[in-house]
Amino acid sequence: MGDPETIEPRLSPPPHQPNVPAPGAPAVAPAAVTGAAPASAAGTPASAAGPVLPQAGPDEVALLIDDRPVVVRKGATVLQAAEKAGILVPHYCYHPGMSVAGNCRMCLVEIEKMPKLQIGCATVAGPGMVVRTNNERVRGVRAGIQEFLLINHPLDCPICDQAGECRLQSYEKDYGRGYSRFAEEKVHFPKRYDIGRSVLFDAERCIKCTRCIRFCDEVSRSHELALFSRGDHAIVGAFPGRPLDNPYSGCTADVCPVGALTWKPFRFKARVWFLKNVPSVCAGCARGCNVNVATFRNRIHRMTPRVNADVNAYWMCDAGRQSYDTLYSRPRFERPIARGLPDATADQALDRAAALLRDTAKTGGKGAVAAIVSARLSLEDLYVAKRVLGELAGITRLAIPSHEDGEDDHLLIRRDKTPNARGAELLGLGAPSSGRVKEILDDVASGRVKGLVVLGEDLLALPGASPALLDRLSALVVLDAWKSPTVDRAHVALPSCGYGEFEGTMVNFQGRVQRLRAALRPPGEADPAWRILRELGRRFGLTSEYATARAIFDEIGAKVPAFSGLTFRTLGDLGAPVPGGATPGAAGAGVSGGPGAPRAEA
Ligand code: SF4
Ligand code: SF4
Ligand code: FES
Repeated sequence: MGDPETIEPRLSPPPHQPNVPAPGAPAVAPAAVTGAAPASAAGTPASAAGPVLPQAGPDEVALLIDDRPVVVRKGATVLQAAEKAGILVPHYCYHPGMSVAGNCRMCLVEIEKMPKLQIGCATVAGPGMVVRTNNERVRGVRAGIQEFLLINHPLDCPICDQAGECRLQSYEKDYGRGYSRFAEEKVHFPKRYDIGRSVLFDAERCIKCTRCIRFCDEVSRSHELALFSRGDHAIVGAFPGRPLDNPYSGCTADVCPVGALTWKPFRFKARVWFLKNVPSVCAGCARGCNVNVATFRNRIHRMTPRVNADVNAYWMCDAGRQSYDTLYSRPRFERPIARGLPDATADQALDRAAALLRDTAKTGGKGAVAAIVSARLSLEDLYVAKRVLGELAGITRLAIPSHEDGEDDHLLIRRDKTPNARGAELLGLGAPSSGRVKEILDDVASGRVKGLVVLGEDLLALPGASPALLDRLSALVVLDAWKSPTVDRAHVALPSCGYGEFEGTMVNFQGRVQRLRAALRPPGEADPAWRILRELGRRFGLTSEYATARAIFDEIGAKVPAFSGLTFRTLGDLGAPVPGGATPGAAGAGVSGGPGAPRAEA
């Protein structure tokens, strides 16, 4: 079983609100910025005895926001400056990964010497500006905007999937009047409308912020959505014959600040306040998008992007978003199997595996046993596999199957569907190669290879393998998370953890090592592959303790030059470039100035 103590539920900001403090965090951070005299109460004009403006550099401007002095780069907006000062200016249409539309007016602030209120998202911070974000005038306007937005909004919160992470709901609580003066009939729009294959649209809930439209124009570049009609009859829609079906369509539901666009697979699955958001990494391709794995009652119900400017910015693809389906769509493999030993325990199965591998190596001679290892395994699994199989069991032939599909796209998706291929390479196991796998299978056919260890792959799903071929083996030892035809033919098979059930690290195609966290308890007797391999290694004389994935990674950092100096602790939530293995120029489209990249910081 996985360590229960490794399952650490963590709260993180709702996925579509990357620049809003996490639930429970104060809306206004307590710390002032540099050189501040004690700040007076918000709403009080700055005076000679009040806060002083700090010195700004040549490319910076200094200003006061609610009496907090803040220095920002030239060109930053008032909203960004407020964020830097730890002050939340409520907003709907602004998103840091897209252009500024300035249409919701929720971010209006008062700026001294300007007679009208200004929108913070589109007003550039100027030197010496004195901004008020929370005085009576601003609060009155915000309440008015809320009232205006709610005129035609249905009272859906009790049945809306967005409830609990809806800006309209949260802002009404924080800034609204709390009651409606609107007695007339609301304008009605289509509800539960299939705007795309996986996204449902409720037009009555839409506040016309145009985030979804800008996402399709600027980030996915698929241009399916537009705003049709005018005034209170304006409605977001897809162009005729072009439903919202781009590979990133789920991101429109993420950026929608209300419950107008919802991701169909998550509808009515769980109330968001019951979900535990565990920060982890998608294992759907070599990009390794940072995600929140949301679980409830030991089941993943949703995966949403987690902001990492160096990897995926604010986005993830639809395939990755639903990649956890594999956990539930195929029967899991839960108890060890040892042919001829009904109800074998894990120890009995491991004894049998070690004996079979030893006997096959002895009778077949050098090269009689080979290994086929998945690059979907974690770095820790691969490291222990290398030690146990390569150094202790004397298995010198090892191949990693490649899994490629489609092409790299302009944003995130990688053709390489193995999430840890770069990690395997950096550990010295070689790159994925169908050719090397075929050579081993050819040698099984010719009788040169008589024993195979298969880690995390369904061999019979690979080209060139057949049941008849596997039946020629005198030792087939398999570790996998799912039942498969390969498991059925194994002499010994042991159940390993699936996605979300183990703690570990992987290296993405950029050469960035990132942590996957355990979010679920594994089923039956499934264990992380490194732990099963460690126990197999004990039968070949392994003495290293390898008590946790953390300890194994720390050993990798100490012993493998490419990972020199890295520890679990230094990886943090956003990972770190591998010192000896970052891929130059592989920051990737979609981030670092590409479409949907985070706006330059204040
Ligand atoms: S559907 Fe959502 S994101 Fe799109 S305009 Fe309406 S409220 Fe904004
Ligand atoms: S691009 Fe790759 S890593 Fe990112 S969400 Fe999609 S499948 Fe997962
Ligand atoms: S966030 Fe500024 S106008 Fe919408």
